[in-house]
Amino acid sequence: MISFLVKPASKVKGDIKIPFDKSITHRAIILASIGKGLTKIKNFSSSRDCFYTLRIFKRLGIKINRKKTLAQIQGKGLFGLRPPQTPLYAGESGTTIRILLGLLVGQKFKSKLQAAPSLNKRPMGRVIKPLELMGAEISAKCKAKNAKREYYPPLTIKPAELHGIKYKLEVASAQVKSAILLAGLYAKGKTGIIESQVCRDHTERMLKLFGADIKISAIGGKNKTGRLISLNQIKQLVSPGEIIIPGDFSSAIFFIVAALIIFGSEIIIRNVGLNPTRTGALKVLLRMNADIKIKNYRIESGEPIGDIVVVGGRHARPLRATRIKHQELPLLIDEIPILMVAACMACGTTIIEQAKELRVKETDRISSMVVNLRKMGANIEVKKDDTIIINGPVKLRGVKLKSFNDHRSAMSLVIAALAAQGCSRLDDISCVNKSFPEFKKLIKKVAF
Ligand code: S3P
Repeated sequence: MISFLVKPASKVKGDIKIPFDKSITHRAIILASIGKGLTKIKNFSSSRDCFYTLRIFKRLGIKINRKKTLAQIQGKGLFGLRPPQTPLYAGESGTTIRILLGLLVGQKFKSKLQAAPSLNKRPMGRVIKPLELMGAEISAKCKAKNAKREYYPPLTIKPAELHGIKYKLEVASAQVKSAILLAGLYAKGKTGIIESQVCRDHTERMLKLFGADIKISAIGGKNKTGRLISLNQIKQLVSPGEIIIPGDFSSAIFFIVAALIIFGSEIIIRNVGLNPTRTGALKVLLRMNADIKIKNYRIESGEPIGDIVVVGGRHARPLRATRIKHQELPLLIDEIPILMVAACMACGTTIIEQAKELRVKETDRISSMVVNLRKMGANIEVKKDDTIIINGPVKLRGVKLKSFNDHRSAMSLVIAALAAQGCSRLDDISCVNKSFPEFKKLIKKVAF
């Protein structure tokens, strides 16, 4: 445990770059490994989670040469992975274990995925269910809770013949969707996924880059709020040669909100991924009266990217409360903790509808944020259906804070502490390495 003393900042100023996208890096490692040919991944994420994915593919016999932010992966094609001699370890990375399960069920060898204690408590039934419908053979630890069964790691996978299914996602989860798509590469016939709430689509975009036969169409009546994704089996995926990873929007958001809630702040964040299935929080903040502009918008490796310019200060231009609809949550799922901080500083009542999914992240993020923010003086209520109600603005005060070993709670609380009156001490900052090892250094650089 490494504690972190946070002093209030009088402003946040700088022209910065944030770490490269964790979600996209995971997918780049996976598809580069099962695509034919050499892939150069530029801007490889420094997150601990991506390290676990990378190490697993080395164990599956893929040659990977990584020097800082450049990784070169010699892909061996769809059936080129080597059977692992020992269990594969996903650490605390939910994305690693859930997405790789979809890949491993299609292999001709047996394998086992193991996880760290915190990930052993996170539900796997959501991904096991559709994969079993495709014919996969998976065994997991089963526990009954409130007359319902749930499944947890470790996961053991036996080789099986897969067939395509048409499946309506029960949880708006990109990890589940990606697992089904990867299994679909090994399944006979067509695999169709219906998502009534759109969630991040990095896998679909990258599969296209590797030449997969994938089609996406809008569904959901007049408003076209959903998507149907169809994938046909093909013989081989082929490397596009190079993948450039954008900056991680889910890391940029901490600096965006810091600039918005601390008077006199101004920040430019360069080369940030702006995929609309990730930037729901931007829309919310604009509704809240934030002064945010995008510059140098472009597309790289199939992903939108640009610079984000934020001019902030709650006295100069106060934030207004908003209602975040349940339908919007998948587009900002990782940003809810920091949006809760912004809501504390906004005038009026902010409502975040039915945020149940936060309960099964690295920690129960509703509880971790409510406990800490209330201690700082926030006015928050949580309804039975996990709707969060925040009344603002309040003057937060510096207190002792607890990270609950959750990177996004920890970083959100550091930002709240920068805007508070008096010093705060976070009990443990080391958990931020999961997604953003450079966080502490960057905070020290921009907070004055
Ligand atoms: C991720 C999907 C999301 C997100 C996680 C990363 C991904 O999880 O919270 O941080 O890379 O696919 P869910 O699929 O559980 O919503």
